[in-house]
Amino acid sequence: MKKWLLLLMTAGLAAALAACGTSSNNSNASGDDKTLVMATSADYPPFESKDGDKIVGFDVDLATALAKKNGYKLEIQDMDFASLVSALKTNKADIVLAGMTPTEKRKKQVDFSDVYYNAKNLVVSKKSSGIKAEKDLKDKTVGVQLGSIQQDEANGLQKKYNLTVEDRNKISDIIQEIKAGRFDAAIIEDKVAAGYLKKEKDFQAFGLNSSNEGSAIAFKKNSDLTAKFNKSLKEMKDNGELDKLIKKWFADEK
Ligand code: ARG
Repeated sequence: MKKWLLLLMTAGLAAALAACGTSSNNSNASGDDKTLVMATSADYPPFESKDGDKIVGFDVDLATALAKKNGYKLEIQDMDFASLVSALKTNKADIVLAGMTPTEKRKKQVDFSDVYYNAKNLVVSKKSSGIKAEKDLKDKTVGVQLGSIQQDEANGLQKKYNLTVEDRNKISDIIQEIKAGRFDAAIIEDKVAAGYLKKEKDFQAFGLNSSNEGSAIAFKKNSDLTAKFNKSLKEMKDNGELDKLIKKWFADEK
């Protein structure tokens, strides 16, 4: 082989390796240090839902504002709720906002911001089901979102009431199963349930006494974004920006 060709090839290889180096040094999932990838499960109005091709909601507005305050643009990835934590761990996403509760179990895998919104779990059913209190769940089939704290909650009640716990990836699928009579009830967060209670006139709900820590932003373990976003979140709590977003998205569901 001619010497100059070898030299050229070596130079080419070095350049390719250097390019590789830059992209792997870049810790953002987008591969661009000014853009953050937010993963969510857009089946959860008013937190996040699809409006045509767009994903809109409280979490989207909040994440956009927090990203902007820290000099980032935002790219949104929709996926099943049960995939969100692993999306962070495999660098497919930088942040998760999905009405996600900061549980001890999840804290072993990802870091969380401070809580930005509180929640309570409701049991939703058809009025005709006669399910008015926890004890009425005896021998019933209860639907929950796969990978959610509501699934843990239902599993906790399972022995006591001989429940059949069924999971689905999307809240809307759980609602369909109730309408079709295949599920007797579902455990759903209050603000999300409220939307369905308004739409489905033959639905009813009551609250469970379980604890639900509310929603927080999830980050990769040891991400330096956590402290930055917490600082901006506090700023938004103090200056009324967060309240404004809460009014915008939750006003008619109180
Ligand atoms: N807060 C519950 C949890 O963290 C449910 C959240 C479901 N979110 C969603 N976007 N579907 O497990």
